[in-house]
Amino acid sequence: MMKKVYKLASFGYGGMAGIHIDKVLNKYDRVDVKGVYDINPERNKAAAEKGYKAYASKEELLNDPEIDIVLVATTNECHKSLCIEALQHGKHVLCEKPATMTASDLEDIIAVAKQTGMVFTVDQNRRVNKDFIAMKRCVEQGLLGDVYVIESRVEGSRGLPAGWRCEKEKGGGMMLDWGVHLIDQIMYMIPEKVTNVFCKMYSIHYPEVDDNFRLTLTFESGLTAHIEVSTNNYIRHPRWYVLGTEGTLQIDDWDAVGKIVKPITQQNQWGVDIVTTKAGPSKTMAPRDESTVETIPITAPEDVVDDLTSVYNPLVAKLDGESELTITPEQVLRVIQVMEASFESAETGKAIQTSI
Ligand SMILES: NC(=O)c1ccc[n+]([C@@H]2O[C@H](COP(=O)([O-])OP(=O)(O)OC[C@H]3O[C@@H](n4cnc5c(N)ncnc54)[C@H](O)[C@@H]3O)[C@@H](O)[C@H]2O)c1
Repeated sequence: MMKKVYKLASFGYGGMAGIHIDKVLNKYDRVDVKGVYDINPERNKAAAEKGYKAYASKEELLNDPEIDIVLVATTNECHKSLCIEALQHGKHVLCEKPATMTASDLEDIIAVAKQTGMVFTVDQNRRVNKDFIAMKRCVEQGLLGDVYVIESRVEGSRGLPAGWRCEKEKGGGMMLDWGVHLIDQIMYMIPEKVTNVFCKMYSIHYPEVDDNFRLTLTFESGLTAHIEVSTNNYIRHPRWYVLGTEGTLQIDDWDAVGKIVKPITQQNQWGVDIVTTKAGPSKTMAPRDESTVETIPITAPEDVVDDLTSVYNPLVAKLDGESELTITPEQVLRVIQVMEASFESAETGKAIQTSI
């Protein structure tokens, strides 16, 4: 039997909606894009020129009985009200990240999704980034022993994009833009509660918002995750740096190329215990003899498809009644709670005790 093709309309037709609609959904046979409504008439015109319906108003889109799924891909401050209205009009909703700017706003959306019985999910699409999956698999296979530190960094030197990402009211800043992805990756990977959040935010060139931040999350087991986003770094760190009891992992960039270096044995194999180094006589900081370690190369996982089908496939499977969502509102709520604790920590200068 032919499976239903779900009709989608989008609030917003900016950069990200364009990626959903023009780059992914036009090749995806289970979702058909009918139209968009953007408050910017130029963007509505651009949609019409591509053959999509340009709705004249928000209400016209919401009241279109053909639409099954509403994509909310506007600036962040509009997500809450548009998601709630779409759910109340009997539409399933895929919202761009960050779903909301506060946890209570997301709780309100979740309550309406429950009341209406409509499906609500969020585009946390970076769970399938190859660099992340490569790191996650190495940790899960135990190649590093017990992992106690994960460092995740995204760094550039060209500042923020112009426009709303520099405006606090619209949900600008790097915590809401990149932080939400990097926190989601770590929380998706570590099945433990976050017990402590400490964050330092910087407004180096953009006074209204955080253009750089450094966040430390502590999990129940004591494992810490350091997450940093910078827009003013002229020398970059590796994308991932992970410490385990039996080795160290480094992945340099998005192409997921990296290595694990681990000792062949924990026994002393280098003979002389104290070595004269440029830092003076030392055991702890003296370099290791290469013959005492093995290096395991890391390459990009070939079985991983890193595109938005990682978000649409589970949504469609849920709508078909075949399986549950993979990106659940409850998971997303925990991420927003951690972001909220991060803002509180940055404002107060204190570490925030949590049970998230
Ligand atoms: N998942 C990802 O990897 C990813 C990447 C980029 C952006 N995003 C998210 O996508 C969203 C949009 O970002 P963008 O980069 O496309 O921004 P953008 O500025 O390119 O596009 C936003 C569009 O929304 C329109 N808009 C604003 N308020 C509206 C409203 N009330 N109704 C209808 N249209 C409205 C604007 O006119 C604009 O065309 C943001 O939430 C952002 O965080 C996600």
